[in-house]
Amino acid sequence: MRSIREIGLKDQRVLMRVDFNVPMDKEGNITDDARITAAIPTIQYISEQGARLILMSHLGRPDGQRSEKYSLKPVAVHLSELLQKEVKMADDCIGPQVTAAIEQLKSGEIMLLENVRFHSAEEENDVDFSKQLAALGDVFVNDAFGTAHRAHSSTAGVADFLPAYAGFLLENEVKMLRQVMEHPESPRLAVLGGAKIKDKLGLISNLLDKMDILLIGGGMANTFLKAQGIYIGKSICEDKLLDEAKKLLISAEKQNKKIILPLDAVLADELSEEAAASVCDIKAVPEDMMILDIGPQTIAAFSREIDRAHTIIWNGPVGAYEFEQFSMGTDAIARAMASSRAVTVIGGGDSAAAVHKLGLDKEFTHISTGGGATLEFLEGKKLPGVQSCEW
Ligand code: 3PG
Repeated sequence: MRSIREIGLKDQRVLMRVDFNVPMDKEGNITDDARITAAIPTIQYISEQGARLILMSHLGRPDGQRSEKYSLKPVAVHLSELLQKEVKMADDCIGPQVTAAIEQLKSGEIMLLENVRFHSAEEENDVDFSKQLAALGDVFVNDAFGTAHRAHSSTAGVADFLPAYAGFLLENEVKMLRQVMEHPESPRLAVLGGAKIKDKLGLISNLLDKMDILLIGGGMANTFLKAQGIYIGKSICEDKLLDEAKKLLISAEKQNKKIILPLDAVLADELSEEAAASVCDIKAVPEDMMILDIGPQTIAAFSREIDRAHTIIWNGPVGAYEFEQFSMGTDAIARAMASSRAVTVIGGGDSAAAVHKLGLDKEFTHISTGGGATLEFLEGKKLPGVQSCEW
């Protein structure tokens, strides 16, 4: 990848794509600023080199319509507080007023453009829109790893019209994810969770190739359990994918890889805050109950494997962790990984959120800022936003 360290940036107009798609509450307060803080080293470096820095991002999915709810203004204010430096806010991301405002920008100054998705052309990767964005800068820097799986104008299209470089965040994400996927030290283990297999078939088969052991929890484990003939009561299950699940189990056996499924579970009759939780053996789930977390025996078995591993990737919570009584399994996985000496990588928004909640961030080798982007990377797909910065 072309790095920004390779070029002189003084007085250059640097057009940089960041992923400031951060969660906000109804009042427009940012509830998790991890993606903003993760881009700060690149922002500071470029600004200190004396460039005129123009930041662009999307926020949410406004479907090509201008809407206050999706304005990046609160992000400019927050970024300015974090940097302790003024961050100018543009009214739009293209047009004569934006061009004029950029002309006024002095060396070292920073401006954030308004949400690129206020224009439907952005997601269409429209050539004309890409050209208009590219005309704002002399150099394009991509630091938006979280959006690198989208072939949009601001992530990929602009690179056809400007020299393109990777920022530190993008560079580091790709380096860490490549390290665990391409040169992992054995024993190599992946912990997989989340509700559905459907979205993760590609991930499971790629990880089965690269890893030695897969620990599977969450809603997706139910489909594997049922595929093995285990009765799962009224738990969620993707019946259409039972054959697919069987094939994956057979393929693991043929490759001499281990897939470990829950041995026991935390059950309730419904998924709600009031639901009373109970524990039972995985082979004794009653008809009117649903599996909502892994049980203590499973936690112990998973923790033993985590303790032995030298490389661990985690994607997806192993229970309905947003409810206190079903969060024990996910918390235990986070703690076991945090105290392991392995290379530990978290890919996926929900598992990262679970780790943030426990304040364990510093105990991991790498926590990816990507959700969908990390998933596609781990599936072995090429990401357009990464390709645009490659030689
Ligand atoms: C994300 O949050 O995963 C990225 O910002 C991409 O957002 P999108 O799924 O709306 O393209």
